[in-house]
Amino acid sequence: MAFLNDNYLKLKAGYLFPEIARRVKVFAEANPEAAKRIIRCGIGDVTEPLPAAVVTAMHKAVDEMATRAGFHGYGPEQGYEWLRHAIAENDFRARGIEVADDEIFVSDGSKCDCGNILDILGGQNRIAITDPVYPVYVDTNVMAGHTGEADASGAYAGLIYLDCTAENGFVAAPPSEHADVIYLCFPNNPTGAVATREQLAAWVAYAQEHQSLILFDAAYEAYISDPAVPRSIYEIPGAREVAIEFRSFSKNGGFTGTRCAFIVVPKTLMASTAGGDRKPLHPLWSRRHTTKFNGVSYIVQRGAEALYSPEGKAQIAALVEHYMGNARILREAASAVGLRVFGGVNAPYIWVSTPAETTSWQMFDRMLGEANVVITPGSGFGAMGEGYFRISAFNSRANAEEVARRMKAIAW
Ligand code: MLT
Repeated sequence: MAFLNDNYLKLKAGYLFPEIARRVKVFAEANPEAAKRIIRCGIGDVTEPLPAAVVTAMHKAVDEMATRAGFHGYGPEQGYEWLRHAIAENDFRARGIEVADDEIFVSDGSKCDCGNILDILGGQNRIAITDPVYPVYVDTNVMAGHTGEADASGAYAGLIYLDCTAENGFVAAPPSEHADVIYLCFPNNPTGAVATREQLAAWVAYAQEHQSLILFDAAYEAYISDPAVPRSIYEIPGAREVAIEFRSFSKNGGFTGTRCAFIVVPKTLMASTAGGDRKPLHPLWSRRHTTKFNGVSYIVQRGAEALYSPEGKAQIAALVEHYMGNARILREAASAVGLRVFGGVNAPYIWVSTPAETTSWQMFDRMLGEANVVITPGSGFGAMGEGYFRISAFNSRANAEEVARRMKAIAW
């Protein structure tokens, strides 16, 4: 007899974004005329073409692959040395942050990395997540058997939920209770909040005191415009001993369909064996990555490397400026109709309060039915997201302007 993983049966709804896609499909089939007008501001998927520097580098890599001398078969699982070097040099050392080339592990996406990291962590860890939260952190822990059942609000037994509210600026402070592993995401998905240096320092101090591990998701780092806001957890002294950082080329270089990301696992980062010995996590992740992953394609890694060229950097800046221009337009439209608006300043997500008495999913239905605009219901990110919705700024300028116009046309 083959047994299934019972933990999967604890999962509540479908994964949020496929569930939204399913509902949009049902609406579109029932309303074929309205379907033609639908504008998607739900999932944070980029819309603009790949930067020219990436395209040129990828074309060149394809041409190399077409020759015997330039052909590449399996590459190093951790990523080609030239890409790991470009990442460590540009994203970290050039900003005064100590990260070695071999502390970088190149992968096919942050979502995968966030889930895969659980392979090297013990099942006995007490896990803390913020609420609202990127659902992958929760669901992968459910799948791994790190939780009990969900209650009526969707909260899983065994997880520590850190409430993020308008009152705390959607940045949770460390809890009074003990957590072994803490997921933090800044700039935050879904609220668009950013953490100050002091707030991150408080988390690093907590992790040092509790010998905890911070899983720091910085996939939206490129959207930080405020120079006082840290772009990496490693800007905080002591973080190399307590944190793994997740980064992605999806949202800065437009790689959501191309797939390339990386994580930083400092060699100074330790965790405990069941017997209480402290051991480095770096060799475990290296072992996991090289056993279960065969590396990102040569062509894609050459494309990612090109993002660090002077042209690539300028093209990333232009993309960020484009999406943040959309964010401004969408923020202003939501404010203009009297809604409370958060985020959208150092992040491509706008987090908006629903009107009184309107749930997040009711708001989803209204926006879809009345404006033919797809948003993400806040409750899909956790119980504390109820009463909010998220608008993604990843769109063309024309669509952002049209969404703003349609929002203003709804009778609020
Ligand atoms: C989102 O919309 O929250 C993101 O696009 C999801 C992701 O990056 O996986």
